This record gives sequence, C-alpha cells and structure tokens, in this order.
Amino acid sequence: MTRVALVSGGTRGIGAAISIALQAAGYQVAANYAGNVERATAFHEKTGIPVFRWDVRDYDACVAGIAEVEAMLGPVEVLVNNAGITRDAMFHKTTPDMWNAVIATNLTGLFNMTHPVWPGMRERNFGRVISISSINGQRGQAGQVNYSAAKAGDLGFTKALAQEGAGRNITVNAICPGYIGTEMVMAIPPDVLAEKIIPQIPIGRLGTPEEIARCVVFLASDDSGFITGSTFSANGGQFFA
Ligand code: CAA
Repeated sequence: MTRVALVSGGTRGIGAAISIALQAAGYQVAANYAGNVERATAFHEKTGIPVFRWDVRDYDACVAGIAEVEAMLGPVEVLVNNAGITRDAMFHKTTPDMWNAVIATNLTGLFNMTHPVWPGMRERNFGRVISISSINGQRGQAGQVNYSAAKAGDLGFTKALAQEGAGRNITVNAICPGYIGTEMVMAIPPDVLAEKIIPQIPIGRLGTPEEIARCVVFLASDDSGFITGSTFSANGGQFFA
C-alpha cells in the first residue's frame, strides 16, 4: 500500500526537496504551505504534488488541514515537520514579536502538526515523525537566540515523544541540517556568510536541500525501524553533537 507523507513547508527550500524525494521513493505526498500561493502553485504544476494552505502556528487550522489531506489521500503515516522561519537579530534588538513568531512556527508548530496525526499512528501501530531542527539548535548561534531556542526545543520534543511512540512502532527523529543553500541562508548578509560562516564548514561548501531530503527518505523507510529519538547531523563537519 502506498504510504501517505505530509510535509509542512513542503513547497519551497528544503521542504520542496523533501516532498520531491518522498514522491520519487513511492509515497503519496501532500505538501503544506503557509502563504506563498504563487510558489506553491508553481510547485504543484511542476511536481503534481497536491498542496494545502494553512498556518502551522494555528492548531485548529492544522486539525482542519490534516483532515482535508486525509480525506483526499488517506491516513498520514509519515509526518515531516519542516516548516520554519528566521527572524534574526542580536538578542538586544530582538522584539517580542520576533521571539513569538519563531517559537510559534518552529516549536509550537511541531505540537500543532503532530498532535492531530498521533492518535491514528497509535491505532495503526505505525508512524514516522521526522522534524527538521538545525545545527543552531545543537550549538546555538549569535543573532538567533529565538531560533536556537526553538530548534533545541524540537530536539527535546523528539526525544520525549520517541519514548511514547516506541511501543507502537512509531519512530520520532530529528535532522539537524547545517547551512544549506536555500533562501533562508541566502538572506544572511553576504559578508557574514562569506567571512564568518563558510570558513566554519570543513567540507568547504553549503549543503544542498537534496542531501537533507535523502536523510528524510531513510528515516521514513521501514529500514530505519530501530532508529528513534535520534538526531541526524548533516552539516559538512561544522559541529559534532
Ligand atoms: N558572535 C558574537 N558577536 C557577533 C557575532 C557573532 N557571531 N556576529 C555579530 N556580532 C556582534 C558584532 O561584532 C557587533 O558587535 P558590536 O555592536 O559590539 O560592534 C554586533 O554583534 C552587531 O553586529 P552586526 O553589525 O552584524 O549587526 P546587524 O544588526 O547588522 O546583524 C545579524 C546582526 C542579523 C544577527 C547578522 O549578524 C546575521 O544575520 N548573522 C547570521 C545569523 C545566522 O547565522 N543565521 C542563520 C540563518 S540560516 C538558518 O537559520 C538555517 C539553519 O538552520 C542553519
């Protein structure tokens, strides 16, 4: 039977690569997106992957959106929590709005997306929850106190929920990408990227979205059934957790 995979933030950046890789691996994929209709429509036209618009910060919207996905495709067996934003600033310049937006999307979004699919995974005795954290949740990053806090929270979420799911064959894992060549990283001032970030990456380059997507495909597969509560680092040697 074809498994259904839902990818939040699945129409752009790393999320788009994940959606495409899961589709290539034989999953029936649904890609959620928050607001960029033009990019989501282009993604759908290019890939044929159905796209669903809702905001992962809104629990009720997640419940309704997931119900819509399941009515169209069937129960979600693989959930990829990928949606994430940055609001970078040094801490003394970070406003409450910048803090709240990042925590709501990057941390509370995991609760909002996972909670509605969890009972079905428990009933069916199978599930895969894969969350995209970050190297900066593992080691912290100046200019990203909000993002680092949320992404570290994602790792705590993963380790605790993995213990709850293990008895029912539901695995819960996190991937910590390093600096990947997406719009999010390209938004870093070019001098900061060139002088402070790339020199810290022993492999000497940014990663690609496809390199993260391949980790997701493995963690979604039956082959990864003994791996749960883990953190996969894919960062070019920049940080060893
Ligand atoms: N460590 C310590 N201090 C630092 C620092 C660092 N890495 N970088 C800057 N500072 C200090 C500066 O020395 C300066 O100090 P003074 O005021 O005492 O002179 C102060 O911070 C301000 O520096 P800037 O002039 O650079 O400040 P700014 O307001 O123009 O920019 C910033 C600040 C927006 C945070 C910018 O430095 C930046 O974008 N940094 C990169 C943050 C980053 O790595 N983001 C990752 C985005 S990608 C992503 O998130 C994906 C993922 O998961 C990896």
